[in-house]
Amino acid sequence: MSGVHIEIGRPQQAVRQWSAKSIYFSLLESELSARTKAESAAFLARQLSETHSHATSMPATLAELETWLAEHNELVGHQYHEYLAGRKAGQPRRYFRSKSHALFFLRAVAPTKLVDGSWLYGLMKHWQDPRLVSLIKIYLEELGDGVEAMNHVVLYRKLLKLNACEDWKNLDEKFFTQGAIQLALATHTDSHLPEVIGFNLGYEQLPLHLLITAYELKELNIDPYYFTLHTTIDNAQSGHARGAIDAVREAMPVFADASDYMQRVINGVKLNDVGLSTLDIIQQFDMQAEVVRILQSKANIGQFMHSDRCVIGGRTVNDWLKEQDQVALFLQEMEKTGWVKRHHNPEESPFWKVIAGDKAPMFGVFTGYEQQVIYDWIAGEALESQLMLARLGKPWRMVEKQAIAHDEALHKKYGNVYDFRSGHKLTQQMRQANDFNQDQLAFERHVHGIDDEQILMDFLVEWMSPAKHYTPLGLSATRYFKSHMDSLF
Ligand SMILES: [Fe+2]
Ligand SMILES: [Fe+2]
Repeated sequence: MSGVHIEIGRPQQAVRQWSAKSIYFSLLESELSARTKAESAAFLARQLSETHSHATSMPATLAELETWLAEHNELVGHQYHEYLAGRKAGQPRRYFRSKSHALFFLRAVAPTKLVDGSWLYGLMKHWQDPRLVSLIKIYLEELGDGVEAMNHVVLYRKLLKLNACEDWKNLDEKFFTQGAIQLALATHTDSHLPEVIGFNLGYEQLPLHLLITAYELKELNIDPYYFTLHTTIDNAQSGHARGAIDAVREAMPVFADASDYMQRVINGVKLNDVGLSTLDIIQQFDMQAEVVRILQSKANIGQFMHSDRCVIGGRTVNDWLKEQDQVALFLQEMEKTGWVKRHHNPEESPFWKVIAGDKAPMFGVFTGYEQQVIYDWIAGEALESQLMLARLGKPWRMVEKQAIAHDEALHKKYGNVYDFRSGHKLTQQMRQANDFNQDQLAFERHVHGIDDEQILMDFLVEWMSPAKHYTPLGLSATRYFKSHMDSLF
């Protein structure tokens, strides 16, 4: 017998604290296990106690909140005006040094943006409660009222796809903390209503960084629509910023002690500090480190793919790639041997020629994002003097998205697919069944087959979860739900 002591019946998981990344993905599963619920509750409690002592400018009375909102917006407007004046006077971009820097940011905030609005999901099953109307309205708007072109998560997914940044799931743990807290709030709303309301209040205020980000993304030839949409939809007069304050007032009667309620709202506001801030994420970008990371990520396959005639610095490429920590030295060696001519037009570098372009021998090995990082790294100090097309790619198509957003006709077309009681519109819309719409038709038949209002709404709410609302059926469920809500309030 060895002296090793094994504790039978005490699984390690019971003691281990889950990472934010594992909590994030567990909370997106369709069935939440008891362990996921327990661990996410513990995670939420930890974050609340860690942010409790943080300072916030948000006042703890309703009357002061109104003034705060006006002052906050004036301040942000003033700071943005100063930023624009500085840029006009020739100051460089404040956030993004290069297009790859901006793409790094898009990818790094993906875990948060892809659960946009999720913290309000737990309210949806309380759709009959008139004290929650403002919050439910905000959640529906985050979901684009079920219109694909307006659903914030759909928009962000498209943005990632267009910019070849879809590999966000490989990101480090630290990028998932903010998204995990949003999903945890969605799961534990029944015990954290004031905190959810407070989190929403903090999140929906227009920040300066949103305005600057949109401005600089556009300058770097990246569609800024997702960000400009939020500068308009989160506005102080009629948008989510306003709705978030109304929500604080509307839900107050639920609680016996108003000052205790407001204190919990403020605790929720502070949860916005959890994880990395926008500015922290922007500062995380280290071009050299990112090039090393990208090459390392290819090393596993790459070490077997090169001919042994590829010799750089006295070693074969296969040899260099065998050891992960050698990759940084490999880069230096490529510079020394002229494979890479830093601070010149990348077209002059043989390394760039083998990886970029349709006919390049290594075509497809690096994603669009990875190629942009390598391009910007090679160009270095000569980056800004390269031709726009080479440096920033083809212009993104100026799709008339703003026009679509305000197109009432489109809203009507999709917003009222089905009148809840008569079902007439759906019958008109019903097309011939084919192999591509089986799920849609089965879904709609099922919806029509339920006559109990509560059972029907529960079914629709299921489909409107953060994991599903952006799918075709999720969008459909959202439209039915919205249609019913419109008939109630
Ligand atoms: Fe949003
Ligand atoms: Fe919003």
